[in-house]
Amino acid sequence: MLAIIGGSGLAQLPILEITHRQVVRTPYGDPSCALTFGRINSENVVFIARHGYGHSLAPHEINYRANIWALHNQGVRGIVAIGSVGGIRPDMTPGTLVVPDDIIDYSWGRQHTYFEGLDHPVVHVDFTLPYDATLRQRVLRAGEKSGVPLVRGGVYGCTQGPRLESRAEIRRMANDGADIVGMTGMPEAALARELGIPYAHLCVVSNWAAGCMDSAESVLFAEGLREQGIKNVQSLIIALL
Ligand code: HPA
Repeated sequence: MLAIIGGSGLAQLPILEITHRQVVRTPYGDPSCALTFGRINSENVVFIARHGYGHSLAPHEINYRANIWALHNQGVRGIVAIGSVGGIRPDMTPGTLVVPDDIIDYSWGRQHTYFEGLDHPVVHVDFTLPYDATLRQRVLRAGEKSGVPLVRGGVYGCTQGPRLESRAEIRRMANDGADIVGMTGMPEAALARELGIPYAHLCVVSNWAAGCMDSAESVLFAEGLREQGIKNVQSLIIALL
């Protein structure tokens, strides 16, 4: 069974034929919301809204450990995580879908590992390639099949939020090599790796990052383009399954 984590603008997945919901408790506390089970193209899928149903959880308030644990507990074979991002690189225009291939983590203070505490031996998981190569290829092929244009690769910079960034912060991130900026990609990807779940990220560019292109004075969210992006995400998921 494949898991889909929905981000901002995707608290529900309209293409999912829902069969049931299940409240799950974990040793790490409560996930963002109940898990929703259903089918897409007759394939079983489990869905969770990262920010909760009412988008009530800020990026630093999300219990990433509980969310990933809950999915692991259902025996999922992969996670496709949807996230909304700001575009830094000039081709990351609002409305674009991006399948990043690398991460820089600028977040802090989040519960970011399962391997801590006296009763857990420390394990240093490999994170050279933070996203699962096979699942990424599947997402890229689904893009081709569905005709949804994708940017194939890019570096995702994860900031702490909930505020947006300053121009200087985005300049620094661009100098570091970040192409898109979001607030929820970490520690989610690393926790999935710790539990051995293949994880791929599908990002919808909802705005130019601070100081990029037309956001010289303030960040403008391109709502119409973002909505189109979310429709495209769903077409792509249908092609994926
Ligand atoms: N910065 C950080 N996170 C985001 C942005 C942004 O500009 N847009 C959407 N998520």
